[in-house]
Amino acid sequence: MRISIGSDHAGYELKGKVAKRLTELKHEVQDEGTFGPQSVDYPDPAAAVAKRVQSAAADRGILVCGTGIGVSIAANKFRGIRAAVCHDLETAILSREHNDANILALSGRSTDHDLALKMVEVWLETHFLGDRHGRRVDKIRKIEDENFR
Ligand code: RB5
Repeated sequence: MRISIGSDHAGYELKGKVAKRLTELKHEVQDEGTFGPQSVDYPDPAAAVAKRVQSAAADRGILVCGTGIGVSIAANKFRGIRAAVCHDLETAILSREHNDANILALSGRSTDHDLALKMVEVWLETHFLGDRHGRRVDKIRKIEDENFR
């Protein structure tokens, strides 16, 4: 898969580990930065990754900030983006099976990094279940149609 990744300063360390693991798994990695501890504003990498997923330049996105919350809020401002903050394997799996999440948002500060790498692997492998979940995601699209300019 083509996977766009990005983080702020609180997430760049985990993002680097994610990039390495994705490369080992033979995915194409598109790294939107940041690459060091210097402070950057999380909406910037979130927007860069969300745009790539929205335009289908990337199949999926992975974002990391201190909590995962800021990047997910920003990414979810883009039509068609379903960014999910996940903290464990169960939420990572359900975000795919039930929500068809196309961006995984991770906490670089409170999630163990080895666990986060495992979450990335299962998140990429897990398929959307459709059916009643498809109906619910369609309702999210309807909300976008009615409320996004
Ligand atoms: C940066 O300190 C922190 O606010 C940011 O990484 C993120 O957790 C925001 O949601």
